[in-house]
Amino acid sequence: MNFNLTEKQLALQEKFRAFAAAEVEPLAAKMDEEETFDPGLPKKLHDHGLMNIPYSEEYGGAGGDYVDYALAVEELAKVDASTAITVSVHTSLACSCIDNFGTPEQKEKFLRPLLEGGKTGCFGLTEPGAGSDAAGQQTEAVPDGDNYIINGSKIYTTNAEFADTVILFTMTDKSQGTKGISAFVVPIDTPGIEVGMNIPRMGIRGASNCEVFYKDVVVPKDNLLGGEGKGFKCAMMALDAGRIGVAAQALGIAQGSLDLAIAYVKEREQFGKPIAAFQNTQFKVADLQTQIDAARLLVYRAAAAKSAHEPYGQYAAMAKLFASQTASDVTREAVQMLGGYGYARKYTVERMMRDAKITEIYEGTSEIMKMVISGYMKLLG
Ligand code: CAA
Repeated sequence: MNFNLTEKQLALQEKFRAFAAAEVEPLAAKMDEEETFDPGLPKKLHDHGLMNIPYSEEYGGAGGDYVDYALAVEELAKVDASTAITVSVHTSLACSCIDNFGTPEQKEKFLRPLLEGGKTGCFGLTEPGAGSDAAGQQTEAVPDGDNYIINGSKIYTTNAEFADTVILFTMTDKSQGTKGISAFVVPIDTPGIEVGMNIPRMGIRGASNCEVFYKDVVVPKDNLLGGEGKGFKCAMMALDAGRIGVAAQALGIAQGSLDLAIAYVKEREQFGKPIAAFQNTQFKVADLQTQIDAARLLVYRAAAAKSAHEPYGQYAAMAKLFASQTASDVTREAVQMLGGYGYARKYTVERMMRDAKITEIYEGTSEIMKMVISGYMKLLG
């Protein structure tokens, strides 16, 4: 058992870190303040190979794996959680649905542009009345000749403002529960789709999380992913992968905030010595780094299992559960270590504390993660 990154992974990590420092960090505070994702960033993310990491070169992917991808998301989240979730939703949720369920023709038409054509994806599952209960959705697709007519609305669709393609989940047979849900790949400029407001939020304010309305949207039957009734499975498989992305995001937020706090306690003097010289600080830093490293091992285990095509759903849920709690714990302590400066908007740990909370909520709340984990443990036989 080897816990070290390979030379190739270390080189990639360095590349992602350099990109994050040069292209993302300088924008992060402004994006948070203005509640807008920088319009030039999606192209830079594509151009620098951040949007196609764990996909086969056959359709324009980088031919990397989920460990490479987790490293990228972690490095982005160290400086900006909003950019990290933008990449994660595109990669783990949107692209994976087409990769897992698309025909060769659908992959050529929709996956290739997302991987090497500079196009960005989003994922329309959550509705105003269907969050954790993903099977309770109301958006409906009704067959009409060679097409379906889709009506309904979605909420919290990450990336919607600048995405080109949405993976859209709809009911095709309301009497069938989870088996009545179908997934479609849909260009977002299709007539009848209206991207609503970017919902004002506590954190990840640089990201785009919008309402999206679908009114009499005509979608060809050719855009159905995996056939009628396969939508719930498609969504659940994407969310398994997405949870590795969110866990890596949480890990990056945690490490990024602790790194800032450590830099601060080395410099800041009170009572005649640096705060780092107080044992209280030393013990706190030791506890937090230990918790972060434990989260990191869970994230890499889940990513390595997925990369090896082994079962990984339980590992992904465990990684997300623990890493998101870690992000909340560490950012709260980082603010505390910076004292009054930590609470000031000018200092980044305040933003990171707000950003951390969402990792305990989206792509399955912590409570849902516990349901998933205990489900794998088969407590009821
Ligand atoms: N992979 C493949 N198939 C799966 C699966 C998985 N991970 N999980 C469940 N399924 C299949 C089951 O095998 C079952 O199939 P069969 O009927 O053929 O046996 C079917 O799906 C139904 O399974 P369950 O009975 O377990 O489903 P459930 O209704 O009890 O739901 C749940 C389980 C875990 C609660 C699930 O609904 C869930 O994960 N909810 C959370 C949804 C979520 O994460 N929402 C966030 C949306 S995205 C987002 O956050 C926005 C963004 O842009 C960031």
